Amino acid sequence: MEIQALLGLSLAFLFFSGAHSVTITLTNKCSYTVWPGTLTGGGGAQLSSTGFELDTGASTTLDVPATWSGRIFGRTQCSTDSTGKFSCLTADCASGQVACNGAGAIPPASLVEFTLSGSGGNDFYDVSLVDGFNLPLSITPQGAASCQSTSCPGNVNSVCPSELAMTGPDGSVIACKSACLALNQPQYCCTGAFGTPATCPPTNYSMIFKNQCPQAYSYAYDDKTSTFTCPTGANYLITFCP
Ligand SMILES: *[C@@H]1O[C@H](CO)[C@@H](O)[C@H](O)[C@H]1NC(C)=O
Repeated sequence: MEIQALLGLSLAFLFFSGAHSVTITLTNKCSYTVWPGTLTGGGGAQLSSTGFELDTGASTTLDVPATWSGRIFGRTQCSTDSTGKFSCLTADCASGQVACNGAGAIPPASLVEFTLSGSGGNDFYDVSLVDGFNLPLSITPQGAASCQSTSCPGNVNSVCPSELAMTGPDGSVIACKSACLALNQPQYCCTGAFGTPATCPPTNYSMIFKNQCPQAYSYAYDDKTSTFTCPTGANYLITFCP
């Protein structure tokens, strides 16, 4: 009896918590290798994969719980040094390994953000350049015709002003910092007197990001045009260099 009751309870739990998982497929269309990283937010358990290598043209899938919130990013120009320590020139998670193990990308990094709500709700997703830009990426809902894609298809590095630019060993721009990170002023960080959506308008710097990537968050309160939603049950495709 007890076992049956327990079984019934766990089946009910599985049912109501939406035990089916969401498949997130990652595809690399960049001409260079990308090392994606994943970070679960809100104190939830990390995914079984928190970092891996994705060669040009390759795809891989992640099984994500139907109720999940987190970020996915793409690290570039990664290598392992003579002591065995792994690191990347952009969006490094400083774990010393290919797996990020619960560490996030060090800005500047283009981010894909998800809040998956489980059965019967809505999923929310966005592309965020609030922490800067390192590579173009997109999110495409799959199996849900009414849901919209969102992307940052532009190359912000090519228009990044020198005061925001992060350069590689050869002097080329490999990532573009947010004005908040580079200049650390309240009007760019939406802090202090600028701490509400009404008092933190776009700036000449956030407009550089917005012009390249109109669907992406270009600064903290860029909500109106940057958040996308889809009824639960969809799967998602993330493309690097769409
Ligand atoms: C943005 O505006 C600030 C303040 O007016 C100015 O100092 C800066 O040069 C401008 N930057 C760009 C890229 O337009």
